[in-house]
Amino acid sequence: MKKPMRVAVTGAAGQIGYSLLFRIASGEMLGKDQPVILQLLEIPDEKAQKALKGVMMELDDCAFPLLQSMVGTSDANVAFKDVDVALLVGARPRGPGMERKDLLEANGAIFVPQGKAIGEVASRDVKVLVVGNPANTNALIAMKAAKGLKPSQFTAMMRLDHNRALTQVAQKTGKAVTDVKKMSIWGNHSATQYPDVFHAEVAGKNAAQTINDQAWIEGTFIPTVQKRGAAIIDARGLSSAASAANAAIDHVRDWVLGSSEWVSMGVPSDGSYGIPEGIIFGYPCTTANGQYTIVKGIEHNDFAKAKIAATQKELEEERAAIAHLLK
Ligand code: NAD
Ligand code: LMR
Repeated sequence: MKKPMRVAVTGAAGQIGYSLLFRIASGEMLGKDQPVILQLLEIPDEKAQKALKGVMMELDDCAFPLLQSMVGTSDANVAFKDVDVALLVGARPRGPGMERKDLLEANGAIFVPQGKAIGEVASRDVKVLVVGNPANTNALIAMKAAKGLKPSQFTAMMRLDHNRALTQVAQKTGKAVTDVKKMSIWGNHSATQYPDVFHAEVAGKNAAQTINDQAWIEGTFIPTVQKRGAAIIDARGLSSAASAANAAIDHVRDWVLGSSEWVSMGVPSDGSYGIPEGIIFGYPCTTANGQYTIVKGIEHNDFAKAKIAATQKELEEERAAIAHLLK
């Protein structure tokens, strides 16, 4: 029997939490032979704590063989103690008509104390995924607040956008999603993100050439992926939850266990592709041995360069808006 891995999930009584926890406990994230201990954080509010207890009762009632134990708490130092993986989901979701950056002030402040606690009590090898929006800038805030850890341990979720893009291309070309490879989402998890179909492949051939429809790429594919979160909010009256949880599972699974595919991850910029250090930027990555590596050597045309510059600018503006939280 493997040593259990400790997984912290914040916002555990929320709608993403409800889709996420059962899949983690069933082994879909870390492996079917990997026992887990769940450390669940919610706000102290009585209703939230009661709802969290209810979710934990349901987890108990699944009798998951891999779920070794769990704790529910409103104390970040308890939730993050010795964790190997931290999923920072808890935050306020946007409603109709809001942009994700409208959440900056409300949610930014959550990530300072949580980052600090992670720096103080988590495993020195902890892998952090920020899901709560605006995810890239919240990840930057947590990364800066966490002392003693490497920036590369902090990531933001671009995988939902990546998965959305895979399906759009598969549906357009009449192929299976598994035929679509080398997808990449650049920049911010926002309406400025750049989903790149020019370097993607469908059934071994260049995706843009296979699609052969520049108007669809510019006028349908890119805006559909960029604005899918708003379209879900409009349709459901609530922001995406099951698909977001699914993307979080994919992101962490591939980071921890490796993948043979390119995956899109928001990671600290390191100068790659001219993006200076200091923001959390979506890049195509490969993963192996518990590490990710930004895919190098992609040549962008002027269209792509302009899109990437726009999303970089937005991330720099978000950073400027919360500069007071980055001390
Ligand atoms: P929700 O409102 O259903 O749940 C959020 C939960 O977080 C609530 O139970 C709340 O009590 C809790 N919470 C708030 N502040 C907290 C704190 N400081 N510590 C611990 N828990 C806290 O929202 P949801 O639908 O689960 O969405 C959560 C976040 O994920 C939102 O910010 C949403 O915009 C974001 N999201 C991101 C992506 C992505 O692709 N990155 C996709 C979907 C949703
Ligand atoms: C999404 O992309 O579905 C989430 O980020 C929720 C949102 O606010 O769009």
